[in-house]
Amino acid sequence: MAKVAVLASGSGTNFEAIAQDLAGGPHGVALLVCDKPGAGCLARAERLGIPSVVIPYGKGGTPEVRRAAEDQMTAALEAAGADLVVLAGFMRILTPFFVGRWKGKLINIHPALLPRHPGAHGIADSFASGDPELGVTVHWVDEGVDTGAILAQRSFPRTPDLSLEDAEARIHALEHELYPAVVRRLLESLS
Ligand code: GAR
Repeated sequence: MAKVAVLASGSGTNFEAIAQDLAGGPHGVALLVCDKPGAGCLARAERLGIPSVVIPYGKGGTPEVRRAAEDQMTAALEAAGADLVVLAGFMRILTPFFVGRWKGKLINIHPALLPRHPGAHGIADSFASGDPELGVTVHWVDEGVDTGAILAQRSFPRTPDLSLEDAEARIHALEHELYPAVVRRLLESLS
């Protein structure tokens, strides 16, 4: 059995999609790590019976503060026996030190067709761009922001009547299909 740990900051719909997809199978979600006390992903973890830990980054965001939080995260991930670490709406930029520790085992989902529209506003930026296609990307995490090698993408064509709300709903639905499939494939290759 291979174990995945999920890092999230927000609602946790991708975390839940992955957990539901793996439920009942040989692989499983061993841990949720969240940097935001009270975030929705924590309630989902409790409902799903998945252990969770809150590791706030505190104020300042200095390299020392980030490094201390990441050391705690690595300790929690190692204690959980994580074979794969999945960023699912984890809205922190990880230091090269953390990325180096988990390189080759660390993936992210981004709500746009990378390399276009990296950063914190992938949906709004791709919607505003007028690009003929919108979509989602799962990629390995490297030291850059949304720059790692692409594992998988899914897209849909923009229609003239597409609203921002429609685009958000389509993108989230694609994420919930694509991310569990990629995670499952990677866990199977590890076991
Ligand atoms: C997802 O749309 C994910 O792609 C995005 O945050 C959302 C988290 O939703 N991540 C980024 O924008 C990273 N740059 P969720 O908490 O419901 O899974």
